[in-house]
Amino acid sequence: MEPLTDPFGRLHDYIRISVTDRCNLRCIYCMPAEGMQFQPQDEIMSYEEIAAVVRALAPLGLRKVRLTGGEPLVRKDLEKLVAMLAGIPGIEDLSLTTNGLLLPAKAAALKEAGLSRVNISLDSLKQDRFERITRGGKVAMVLKGIEAAQAAGLSPIKLNVVLMKGINDDEIQDFIALTLDSPLNVRFIEYMPIGSASDAWRQTYLPLERVVAACTEAGWETTEDEGPSGNGPSQNRRVIGAKGTFGLIHPVSEHFCDNCNRLRLTADGHIKACLYWEDEYNVRPLTSDPAAVQALFRKALGNKPHNHEMALALERKQQSHTPTKRRMSQIGG
Ligand code: 5AD
Ligand code: SF4
Repeated sequence: MEPLTDPFGRLHDYIRISVTDRCNLRCIYCMPAEGMQFQPQDEIMSYEEIAAVVRALAPLGLRKVRLTGGEPLVRKDLEKLVAMLAGIPGIEDLSLTTNGLLLPAKAAALKEAGLSRVNISLDSLKQDRFERITRGGKVAMVLKGIEAAQAAGLSPIKLNVVLMKGINDDEIQDFIALTLDSPLNVRFIEYMPIGSASDAWRQTYLPLERVVAACTEAGWETTEDEGPSGNGPSQNRRVIGAKGTFGLIHPVSEHFCDNCNRLRLTADGHIKACLYWEDEYNVRPLTSDPAAVQALFRKALGNKPHNHEMALALERKQQSHTPTKRRMSQIGG
């Protein structure tokens, strides 16, 4: 069968599936402090519906599935979905992006069910700051989550650090230092204007050149490195002699779209071919008909933009499409 390509020839073998828009934290770049309206339970895709979508796409070359949220581990019995997806022929890589809080309770069951690996969000190693960024989280719990993932063999473990000017940009060296003795992959991610390109975003956004400068200041020599498998848009480097690697993800400042192989599915069943634009296609009514699911994904891909144009938002310039009104917690990163 025809693979999943878009009009620009980009092959899509990867889907990010948000399983819930709920979360046990409230990160400042992801959700408002108060007044977040969560989707009612009956509007959320069931595990059977999600598995039906993946089953329909696997024959078209889908190979990689990542579960996201909100926080995916707040959804009940997530390991059941993991087991269903792990059993679908063709799916080679099944991963999870999590804030890590529930990993001590869940890591072993997830591994047992067939999860390959986890990415863990961690934006500060300092408790007072972590609490401010996540609006109440305990950094020690995330560190316990990382240990639990390591113990369960959910590797390679990647840490996601959203870099924000004046908030955590003085911790770059501390994060890279984590890679010296441990085979972690720390990924610095540019802050994206999802939900609204506000002045607060423009003031906090920081291009990643700072990371390279921080290495020089620390006296670390670095080399380009392939990084762990499945590295996607991350450009990886290694401090010479370090066990782990660090990566730069430039969604805003560079053409991270050129090699985009990602599809997205929201918790309420909407296909997003690009995380940034508002274009969506509701696949939920079609899940019992694989051919219709395939056709809708092809339609979504047919309208996939070449580039998200977030850089234009930084310069307050007119964009060619309308940005989504969803929050990041409803898209899944
Ligand atoms: N910009 C960049 N990254 C973000 N994430 C969430 N919101 C944003 C944003 N506005 C990241 C989180 C998480 C992943 C799912 O997406 O840090 O690791
Ligand atoms: Fe929750 Fe992740 Fe959003 Fe933070 S970034 S509020 S941990 S979903």
